[in-house]
Amino acid sequence: MTDSPLIDVIAGARPNFMKIAPVIAAIQARQAQGSRLRYRLVHTGQHYDEKMSGEFFRQLGIPHPDVNLEVGSGTQAEQTASIMVRYEKLLLDAPSQLCLVVGDVTSTMACAIPTRFNCQVPVFTAQKLRIPVAHVEAGIRSGDWTMPEEVNRLVTDSISNWFFTTSTVANDNLRRAGVAEERIHFVGNTMIDTLLAQMDRLRPPALWAEQGLQPGGYFVMTLHRPANVDDPQSFERLLDAVCAHTQGLPVLFPVHPRTAKTLQGLARQFPSLVTMDPQPYLEFNFLVRHAKAVITDSGGVTEETTVMGVPCMTLRNSTERPETVSVGTNELIGTDPAALRPALARLFAGQWKRGAVPELWDGKTGPRIVAALEGLLAH
Ligand code: UD1
Repeated sequence: MTDSPLIDVIAGARPNFMKIAPVIAAIQARQAQGSRLRYRLVHTGQHYDEKMSGEFFRQLGIPHPDVNLEVGSGTQAEQTASIMVRYEKLLLDAPSQLCLVVGDVTSTMACAIPTRFNCQVPVFTAQKLRIPVAHVEAGIRSGDWTMPEEVNRLVTDSISNWFFTTSTVANDNLRRAGVAEERIHFVGNTMIDTLLAQMDRLRPPALWAEQGLQPGGYFVMTLHRPANVDDPQSFERLLDAVCAHTQGLPVLFPVHPRTAKTLQGLARQFPSLVTMDPQPYLEFNFLVRHAKAVITDSGGVTEETTVMGVPCMTLRNSTERPETVSVGTNELIGTDPAALRPALARLFAGQWKRGAVPELWDGKTGPRIVAALEGLLAH
């Protein structure tokens, strides 16, 4: 192995950015101690808006990407194909020694695949090995094949060499799939590294004062899954159930670009719904931290609410993060809006579980990953 191995760190969509920040910080910290490990930050451009991308880089102190593949919007297949072609070209022009992907978005899978085609690690050429892939947040499974993220997880894990996991459930999933024990590294959760590192910097958005918000005096809601937001009638029923059973408290709703398309014209029927643009990281998590509860269909948000001890209702029938339910503050409510009423009644009666923090979600996952990579790349 070269004595200064180059790691491609891949980021494409909003939920990737908080997961790569601690890995890059840990590489930089090792460099400052004399390590020769190098990284190249590759942004695929899947999310490109200031509000979905640029602002997160600034707030989280992530360096400017070394490469931007600039794929932009498109269907799932268009984005996947375009990222694969562009990333393969990069690898052919300037190979790295490792491709590190995080999470389960289109960019994760699309960058993992070309590493297995025709790009060879110069120092590994004798063994005819291809560029290895390390997957951060490997092994989680929802069992719901209607979600593109589940397909992305399965494809990525089926071609990864090294698996960095957030939970013992993920470890078991990988073992069941036949992954050898020595390739599984149970390291914890990089998203929680970021949350704990930023906790003291969380700050209210302007609407905190404008709306006279108080801790515990409002809900936060995020919805963007096709099953919840693509059909205007069922989306309206869902909003109706939320607003009917939240006792008139403001429901703060940062609207994802996908959701904005269906929401047009609906929002004004619900006076307690406070819609807003996607919020930057520090402002969003400030709102979550002080909310009475969070209503969401995001996976990452359920991890953050678990660590902050905020009640969380997930409007999905399954979760790939079962520890947020078994250990944390999350509950699966399902996609039938009728189920919100009893759940919210329990919340208002003060009967929501308090929850605890899952094993190794301690803010030290980035350094654990980088220490493991140094060992793996040294062989
Ligand atoms: C993606 C991820 C999902 C993640 C979500 C968080 C996949 C399969 N899905 O879903 O796991 O939870 O991001 O944000 O990768 N758009 C913009 N500006 C942007 C980005 C997107 O306007 O900066 C628009 C696109 O044009 C498209 C819609 O938003 O119409 C959806 O974006 P896309 O990246 O395709 O998927 P998400 O639904 O955001």
